[in-house]
Amino acid sequence: MAKQEKDATFVGDSRVSAKRIPNISPSYSDFPGKTEPFWPNFLLKEWMVAAVCLVGFLVLTVSHPSPLTDKANPNDTSFVPLPDWYFLFLYQMLKYPWAAGDWVVFGTIVVPGVAFGALLLAPWLDTSKERRPSKRPVATGLMMTALVGIFYLTWAADHEHSLNHPSSKDSGGAGHGSSAAAPAPADSSFTADAVWKAQTSCMGCHGKNMEGGMGPNLQKIGEKYDATQIADIIKNGKAPGMPGGLIKDDAEIAKLAEYMATLK
Ligand code: HEC
Repeated sequence: MAKQEKDATFVGDSRVSAKRIPNISPSYSDFPGKTEPFWPNFLLKEWMVAAVCLVGFLVLTVSHPSPLTDKANPNDTSFVPLPDWYFLFLYQMLKYPWAAGDWVVFGTIVVPGVAFGALLLAPWLDTSKERRPSKRPVATGLMMTALVGIFYLTWAADHEHSLNHPSSKDSGGAGHGSSAAAPAPADSSFTADAVWKAQTSCMGCHGKNMEGGMGPNLQKIGEKYDATQIADIIKNGKAPGMPGGLIKDDAEIAKLAEYMATLK
């Protein structure tokens, strides 16, 4: 009878919770052999784990130094900026038609908002006491989907970037992405011929005296190409960044190419 009295609960008022669980931790004597002192045993273990992680990171930073890219070059308009790796998946998502253009709000606000909002609210949304991932299919499934998506998008962004800008990868994403264009040091005493100076469009990128700018230095271009090859570059351009068709007149092209071929 006494026990029944103790268990009796008042159910008429929803503001009173039926069961009050006292906020008292269980006595450690209830778990013989499963406890250990915080100091020094437990703390020592924690410290050892921390030390292993620290040394691991140290080794990583020494063996794989962060890939610093070229110095910023404001004249380089062919530079393709790329977000840091941890934002690549968001960046990649914006390339898809359902997350860009008219749908850009969906890609920039709705999807990331819902995803990060759900992550933030997860402790309230998912109150299951079950800890095994296999017993929590919804939470586990969503997490796995998100992880796979993030990994795939990150990979796709990197893959696409290296496909579209093959050499910008080894220069760390900077530079105008051309091995051929590694500019020779400009010779400031060099003065270009009037044939060159007549081509203001070329000068815009290669400099008044071919010293280079956005395009490479051409002061010794004759060492690399003969007149026919140069004429071909002028006519058809050279990827990446060298536009073709700037000079329409064939005779003018030939004259310029001939002059440039003599530069050695
Ligand atoms: C929009 C800027 C731009 C303009 C304008 C331009 N170039 Fe270029 N040019 C470049 C770039 C960038 C390259 C490097 C291409 C590469 O990576 O191989 C280049 C490369 C070249 C090369 C080959 C260099 C090499 O070492 O392979 C020649 C020759 C050349 N340009 C000539 C000209 C001539 C002549 C004109 C004018 C008709 C001209 N360029 C106009 C940007 C330009």
